[in-house]
Amino acid sequence: MEIIIQPTPEAASVIAARIIARVVREKPHAVLGLATGSTPLATYRELIRLHREEALDFSGVTTFNLDEYVGLPPEHPQSYHAFMQENFFRHVNLGEEHTHIPNGMAQDVPRECARYEAAIVAAGGIDVQLLGIGSDGHIGFNEPTSSLASRTRIKTLTELTRKDNARFFNGDMGKVPMHCITMGVGTIMESKAVVLLAFGANKATAIADACEGPMTAMNPASILQMHRTAKVAIDEPASTQLRKRDYYRYVYDNKPVWQRL
Ligand code: PGA
Repeated sequence: MEIIIQPTPEAASVIAARIIARVVREKPHAVLGLATGSTPLATYRELIRLHREEALDFSGVTTFNLDEYVGLPPEHPQSYHAFMQENFFRHVNLGEEHTHIPNGMAQDVPRECARYEAAIVAAGGIDVQLLGIGSDGHIGFNEPTSSLASRTRIKTLTELTRKDNARFFNGDMGKVPMHCITMGVGTIMESKAVVLLAFGANKATAIADACEGPMTAMNPASILQMHRTAKVAIDEPASTQLRKRDYYRYVYDNKPVWQRL
């Protein structure tokens, strides 16, 4: 894992956007794995800026989102379909037919999950997956004790996640769906590269456990220690529990010039 500590969420997000932009420039038919929540918003803003001001071209790009709530139609304002339209898709030149999000309204959920997995494979696999992390260590909606080999499937959200996400539902936890469809941990691990973002003090424990703790299904993000190309870009408050934070800064500050972003 490469751990990149930045002074602000914006600075860490610019790094994430540069990583993604580099992939898109090198491979115009790149496949991006995308995430929702508060964390990736500044990354999307930067990618939109790169599209508008530096001609970053998404016309050949395909995207797969990590997850969607079960029972929310795409037009529901809190659905992840709506989130992606509002915060990214409608601002760039992505073909609608190239954007994929699990169908939370599917009648046959296992079939929908199998279809989603097959679509990722048919697209050639994910080149770079953007990730947030839950305060409980989840990636996608793979809550603690999720199988580290899991594939796209239905999950029941923890009380903590429903409480964390109640802010998107006018603070009413009762409105937060109980279930979601999420890519599995095994699905995420097959991405060729992963960029995980985390901001704020309430992510500090999850980040320390993910990066330095034992690898365990109790913190699903910790499996990223086994990923061949995982970068973790975080702000200062999210870094405070890391034992080796000075070392991570030293490594980043002393990168060979050719490796700099
Ligand atoms: P957040 O969620 O970005 O809204 O904090 C992250 C996550 O749950 O993965």
